[in-house]
Amino acid sequence: KRPSSTVIFIFGGSGDLNQRKLTPALYNLFLDGFMPDNFAIVGTGRTEYSDDKFRKHLLDGINDFSRRKDDKSGSWEKFAPNVSYLRMDADKAEDYKGIAKIIQDLEAAWGEHPSVLFYLAVAPQLVPDIATNLHKLKLCKDKASSRIIVEKPFGHDLKSAQELNSLLTSLFEENQIYRIDHYLGKETVQNILALRFANALFEPIWNRNYIDHVQITAAETVGVEDRGGYYEQAGALRDMVQNHILQVLCMVAMEAPVSFEANEIRNKKSDVLNAIRKIKKTEVQKYAVRGQYAAGWMKGAKVKSYREEKGVAPESTIDTFAAVKFYIDNWRWQDVPFYVRTGKYLMEKTTLITIQFKEAPKYAFPPEASETWRANRLTISIQPEMDIRLRFQAKRPGQTMSLNPVDMVFSYNDNYDEPQPEAYETLLLDAMMGNATQFMRDDQVETAWEVIMPILETWESRPPVDFPNYAPGTWGPEDAEALIAKDGRTWVTLP
Ligand code: BG6
Repeated sequence: KRPSSTVIFIFGGSGDLNQRKLTPALYNLFLDGFMPDNFAIVGTGRTEYSDDKFRKHLLDGINDFSRRKDDKSGSWEKFAPNVSYLRMDADKAEDYKGIAKIIQDLEAAWGEHPSVLFYLAVAPQLVPDIATNLHKLKLCKDKASSRIIVEKPFGHDLKSAQELNSLLTSLFEENQIYRIDHYLGKETVQNILALRFANALFEPIWNRNYIDHVQITAAETVGVEDRGGYYEQAGALRDMVQNHILQVLCMVAMEAPVSFEANEIRNKKSDVLNAIRKIKKTEVQKYAVRGQYAAGWMKGAKVKSYREEKGVAPESTIDTFAAVKFYIDNWRWQDVPFYVRTGKYLMEKTTLITIQFKEAPKYAFPPEASETWRANRLTISIQPEMDIRLRFQAKRPGQTMSLNPVDMVFSYNDNYDEPQPEAYETLLLDAMMGNATQFMRDDQVETAWEVIMPILETWESRPPVDFPNYAPGTWGPEDAEALIAKDGRTWVTLP
């Protein structure tokens, strides 16, 4: 698969996302032969850059953050001339003429009309201005070949997401709008569909008759770093649960699609979001736990509390940890809890999905055969480990009937030599190809907001009294353990 001639305008071109993720992704696509023969990448922003200085800035990013650095074989020298910089003010309609001129010139040079992608890697408040100006200057009038890619956060709450959607859909066709959630581009997340729907083995037991509960953990070992300003407007629930975690949950819980057509997959995910039980405001405490990190130690280094971070209010009530118990009210999942948790400065960096099966109906072995009678469990490690483990009981060799749990493991690294593309590579290639399957549709984003709004509103109206409530390097606040322990279950972490 290879896209046709394409020009990509990156708004926020001088920013972090472009330097760390977007240009490295495009560079890796180039090295792997996925970029079209004719392509141009134009960074835009207010900062002054000459083309050369901009290229140097991006090369530094590649050397620091890309899965492949510049190996001095001349590839960068072939890639770099396709990169340029356009200084402009995103809120000045006048400045967009520069964009029109670039497209015109490329069209003349390439002898064909290119696909045009506008990647909005900017603060959310700039999105409406940019979208309006792109529309005003008719830069997206070709509905088949022009697309606009919108980064998260997509809105700040349900209302602002609805407003943003109605603005965007009034200016563009829905199939021109690519709302990105980079988790959907991760290899291991895409593999959930392969595991579930390319095998006859799992699907028959993938339901409330056999599954006791599901867990999703997305734990990070970093704090908010230099993103205090952004994070103060977000918090863990908005930053991770509303998007990444709910999207992963949809992949685990959705019904089998009949095709891989974008809307078919998105309909099936939407069905899950629509079926998630809305937590009553009076019951938020029963279903959701928030936390904020204190000062402490991470891997031998002293770290500041969240409230001491740059850009953070000293009395901040923002959550850096969130855990929620969801229910999905449909035939497949009725009464099966989905426990999710995420946080900064936790004990390990790990994103893990656990499918905990019910116990065997009858345990005929002598009680001494096993200290703990554990039921089967499937764990899907999304990152940094990439593997799938099926845990079951085995007889320990010897003359006594002694059982212990063992793991049958599929590991990406043991099975494949191919390098793993980064999520942004996959998603940028999809966007260039016009494939929106792994992007979010307007209704998905809004329903995901609907799901978390009762929690957000309750938390915002009742400031926490116990913040900060967890130490760096732990698994978060004690209440998060209690959330699952009161149901007689425990959070799963891999050994
Ligand atoms: C981003 C969040 O969307 O995802 C960050 O804004 C978070 O706070 C990041 O660190 C995690 O992504 P990944 O791919 O490192 O798991």
